[in-house]
Amino acid sequence: MNTNKKSVPQIRAHKANETNPPIAMVTAYDAPTARIADAAGVDIILVGDSLGMVVLGYEDTLSVTVRDMAYHTKAVSRTEPAALIVTDLPWLSYHTGVKDAIKNAAKLIRAGAEAVKLEGGANRIEIIRALIDAEIPVMGHLGLTPQSIHTFGGFSVQAKTRDAAKKLLDDALAIEEAGVFSVVIEAVPNVVAAKVTQLLHIPTIGIGAGPNCDGQVLVFHDLLGLTFGHRPKFVRQYGSLGELGIKGLEGYVHDVKMKAFPSADEGYHVGHGEFDDWNF
Ligand code: KIV
Repeated sequence: MNTNKKSVPQIRAHKANETNPPIAMVTAYDAPTARIADAAGVDIILVGDSLGMVVLGYEDTLSVTVRDMAYHTKAVSRTEPAALIVTDLPWLSYHTGVKDAIKNAAKLIRAGAEAVKLEGGANRIEIIRALIDAEIPVMGHLGLTPQSIHTFGGFSVQAKTRDAAKKLLDDALAIEEAGVFSVVIEAVPNVVAAKVTQLLHIPTIGIGAGPNCDGQVLVFHDLLGLTFGHRPKFVRQYGSLGELGIKGLEGYVHDVKMKAFPSADEGYHVGHGEFDDWNF
C-alpha cells in the first residue's frame, strides 16, 4: 500500500487558497500513463471516457462501454499509484436507473477505481444518492458534458447566458447536496466557474473553466502532444511526445531498411564451437 495515498476525504476537504495549492488531476488509461502521472505528483488520476477518443479512435465518448472502462481501470490500478483513482461511468451505464448505476459502478470499483464520475446535475440526484448509499464516492461533472454531445449539438462552451449560468449554479448546489465529493466544470466562462467555486464547499476541478477553480484537469494525450486533430484553446501542451515518437520511429525504420539494426551485439550468441559444423 502506498503510504502517500490520496483519499476521497482529503480531496473533499481541499478548497484551494493561499496555503492550499490547487488540485492537479490528469487522465491516464493504462500502466505507463498512470506511472508517468503518478511520478509527476498528480493528486487524482481520472480514467476518463475520453479514452474512447484519444486511445480507441472514436469521434466521441458514446461508444465506450463499462467493460472498456473496467479494462483500463485495472491497468491503472495495477500500478498502485499514490493518486486517487477516479473512473468515468460511461454513457448509458447510469441513465437507465439506480440498479444499473450501482451494478456498473461496482464493476469499476472492483476493477480498482476508488470513486466514479458521472455527468449531469439535478437530473442525476437519485443516482448520486444511491451510489453514495452503496459506499461508492461520486465526482460530478457539469458544463460541457461530452456524453450530451447530441443534445448540445457539438462540443461547445456552456453557461454563456445568465439563465444558463444560473442553471449550472443550481445544478452544482444540488449535486453537492446529494453528496458528490468534488465536481469537474468543463468549458464554461471563467466568471461562472469562479462563482460556482465560491459557492460550493467541495472542490471544483476546471477544464476550460479558468484559473479560479480549486483544481485543474487535462487529458494526458492532449497535454503531452499525443493527439493529432483540433486542440481546444484551454489545452496547454507541455510536451510533444507525438513528434518525438515519429522522429524516433523514423530512425528505427531507417536503420531497419539500411540493415543498421540490429547489430550483432543486439542479438544472442552461444559458446564457441557449438555451431561450427552445423549444416543449414
Ligand atoms: O473523460 C475525461 O477525460 C473527462 C475530463 C475531460 C474531465 O471527463
